[in-house]
Amino acid sequence: DRLDMNTITSPLPFEQSPTALAGPERDVLLKDPGFGRYLTDHMVTIRYSKGAGWHDGKVVARAPLTLDPATMSLHYGQEIFEGLKAYRMPDGGAALFRPDANAARFYKSAERLAMAPLPEALFLESVRALVKADRDWIPEGEGAAMYLRPFMIATEVGFVTKPAAEYLYCVLASPVGSYFSGGPKAVKLWVSETYTRAAPGGTGAAKCAGNYAASYAAQAEGSANGCDQVVFLDAVERRWVEELGGMNVFFVFDDGTLQTPPLSGTILPGVTRDSLITLARGMGLTVREEPYAMDQWQADAKSGRLREAFACGTAAVVTPIGTVTGKQHDFAIGTGAPGELTLRLKGMLTDIQFGRAPDPYGWMD
Ligand code: COI
Repeated sequence: DRLDMNTITSPLPFEQSPTALAGPERDVLLKDPGFGRYLTDHMVTIRYSKGAGWHDGKVVARAPLTLDPATMSLHYGQEIFEGLKAYRMPDGGAALFRPDANAARFYKSAERLAMAPLPEALFLESVRALVKADRDWIPEGEGAAMYLRPFMIATEVGFVTKPAAEYLYCVLASPVGSYFSGGPKAVKLWVSETYTRAAPGGTGAAKCAGNYAASYAAQAEGSANGCDQVVFLDAVERRWVEELGGMNVFFVFDDGTLQTPPLSGTILPGVTRDSLITLARGMGLTVREEPYAMDQWQADAKSGRLREAFACGTAAVVTPIGTVTGKQHDFAIGTGAPGELTLRLKGMLTDIQFGRAPDPYGWMD
């Protein structure tokens, strides 16, 4: 791949933001950041053009982009993104959680959307540089972190339908608390029968903007039915549980085993999903990566064979599922209170992320 380290200065050149928020003003926002409402003072930008490769990387004041209205990403959707968090450590320092996993996924997403893949070393350098520039923006307090949003758009101009020859890679950062307004509580799911999220051979495993846009109509249907999130079924048989559109899903059974849908190519390979599988197996638990039918889920919840279910993701962390409703389904999980294993896994994961526990897998960076 074309990592032109000759044209990228390392470390990335840094420009102080002239509009940087003063400490006291920023500290007010950090007390109750919500999710993705506020953005930090800086951003990273790196450009790509065919021939020149990756070049002109820098940390600059966050500012609007100037784009020609015919910019290809605006028309044909060549856009990919990532989501990862930096945490404040007990010693006052900052650490990222598994940024190498996001770098690798971003590379794969680029390949799927026929975009120029960003060398993983450059991804890592860019997120580390932004955390360093805006480290005072990392909120303190339970569950709070700085969410990083690397993304890439096609910047070539014109209406020709083809992979662009020019790209802009950019990283933004946002102080965040809980993803769900009202804090962490069990979510109500809506089973989408009208819409599916991804088909075999499609872009379901890539983190591209279109997947999220495509989920909103289902989300609106869920909201209209009093639910928080949608559970998508597979596009072929409309039978198997896939994911929630922005989160993966896990099931916990009465024999202490766990199950999660396999990475079949139609669901997003979540970094949190992978981490929880590792943690659970490390505890000696059995985790099956196998398809689970929607009807079986309902039957198991009703019989008591299924004890707990939870959603997970970088934004959602680990969120218990409370109820599931749809045109043909209506059931509650367990007693409605967050499950024991759900809370235990969440505790293990967040203890590592916040530096409260040893990091046996070397995940913190
Ligand atoms: C994440 O968990 O980082 C995501 O990208 C999900 C999105 C719905 C915020």
